[in-house]
Amino acid sequence: MAVHENTTPLVELEGINKIFGGIHALRDAHCRIHAGEVVALVGENGAGKSTLVKTMTGLYQPNSGTIRVKGQAVRLATAKAASEYGITAIHQETTLFEELSIVENIFMGHPRTKPSGLLDWAAMRSEAREHLERVNLDVEPTTLLKQLSLGQQHMVAIARALAEAADVVIMDEPTASLSSNEIEKLYVIIEKLRDLGKGILFISHKFDEVFRIADRYVVFRDGAFVGDGNIAEVTEHDLVKMMVGREVGTVFPKRAVEIGAPLLEVASLSNGIEFKDVSFTLHKREILGFYGLVGAGRSEVMRAIMALSPYPFTGQIRLDGVPANWKICGDAIDAGVVYVPEDRRNQGAILPLSIRDNIALPSMKRLARGIWPDKSAERRLAQEYGRVFEIRAASIEQPVEDLSGGNQQKVVLARWLATNPDVVIVDEPTRGIDVGAKSAVHEALAEMVEQDLSVLLVSSELPELMGMADRIIVMRLGEMVAEFTRDDFSAELIAAYATGARAPQPAREVA
Ligand SMILES: Nc1ncnc2c1ncn2[C@@H]1O[C@H](COP(=O)(O)OP(=O)(O)OP(=O)(O)O)[C@@H](O)[C@H]1O
Ligand SMILES: [Mg+2]
Repeated sequence: MAVHENTTPLVELEGINKIFGGIHALRDAHCRIHAGEVVALVGENGAGKSTLVKTMTGLYQPNSGTIRVKGQAVRLATAKAASEYGITAIHQETTLFEELSIVENIFMGHPRTKPSGLLDWAAMRSEAREHLERVNLDVEPTTLLKQLSLGQQHMVAIARALAEAADVVIMDEPTASLSSNEIEKLYVIIEKLRDLGKGILFISHKFDEVFRIADRYVVFRDGAFVGDGNIAEVTEHDLVKMMVGREVGTVFPKRAVEIGAPLLEVASLSNGIEFKDVSFTLHKREILGFYGLVGAGRSEVMRAIMALSPYPFTGQIRLDGVPANWKICGDAIDAGVVYVPEDRRNQGAILPLSIRDNIALPSMKRLARGIWPDKSAERRLAQEYGRVFEIRAASIEQPVEDLSGGNQQKVVLARWLATNPDVVIVDEPTRGIDVGAKSAVHEALAEMVEQDLSVLLVSSELPELMGMADRIIVMRLGEMVAEFTRDDFSAELIAAYATGARAPQPAREVA
């Protein structure tokens, strides 16, 4: 793509330092974004990417350094100031208001007014409709945000950025909660923005999309800039090496284990709304994968098994041959079945509490001596699992809300696996987790399987499933459409069943 040596960047950061307590989150960091380019910012969990974004959008004040907008040094005291300088961001944690409508969310902070000074709702509604159309979201602007799916909410955040008419649009892991369909739409929007001469900063842990969408890359490690260049002149291998500072194996550490007797048997599960006639058997020490597009019903099935679904269902669940009539999620947990949800921010961690409390809480009863909590056992457990999942933090006493996004996710994984369950249901376990830590997560799962854990693995990443699973069940539109055993895994076939390009396989006998 274009070389920008001679043009003034839309925004330029130089010598930025940001220190939180004792944590040096940005060290002498620099970064430039030019008009008409998509820059991918990559780095490990905790590398400082989101901190950089927040510094660029007035949410954090740097301890030192310079920010220039179109060549002019500026101070971005607030998000509003940043927005007035033409910089807007879609943050990793969406900062939208669930109880408000789409219009209100889009225009909050920069409403359209009539000459009289009154709010011009009609204008805002029609403008909102235009922006929704641009992001291909076919809903009424008056819809409340909480009525939308996570992916749709993200599209609203993007519509909001468009409404601000920004020159620089920053997207912090925008695709983490989108379906593949929505991701394609987002790529088109990004390309359009670039062609309009906007500068886009794009953060992602997925290399396929970095190579697909970016013109230039910038790599951060431990809060510092380590390199940049044109995407066309770099390989994935080089990028990973720059990010991690060492070679990383991308092999999935599936280990040969002897699959045992049936453990969790699910028969004819239907709830009339989200899924129909789902039957499968998870064996001891087996990793059973679930593949499908977002909306295929995989997470909904898992939530039903965990007694977390708002809808009643029919069908049977047996654990170790015994009917499981779990009324609440706690019953399943007591029976040894735990669930690591996909939406970890809302369902996973208790943000104000420390890493230690988050990891130890579900295991407190097991660790207690009589009625007395065993604090030192809790600390050891948190330390052990923190190490296993490579949680990056100053100490295990740090509140989880101060951790980077990916590290928060590792805490949730650690918390449930630390309970020493018989069955774990993991939903998108490595989403938002960097390459290095990803293999740590896979390694940890494989090791626990060796020690008798059985796993239901829901993932939208086919390489992860094909690497880890013994069998893969493909779901589409709420039904099981195919099943593959490890010997006949085929990426093309699995994808074809998931998208409906192939008709469902004839039903198999339920074990
Ligand atoms: N509000 C805060 N208080 C204390 N420490 C913080 C705060 N925000 C971030 N940090 C620390 O700053 C460092 C950089 O975090 P940041 O969120 O920028 O990482 P990231 O590159 O976005 O990672 P991820 O890929 O996991 O999202 C981390 O060590 C994090 O713990
Ligand atoms: Mg982040």
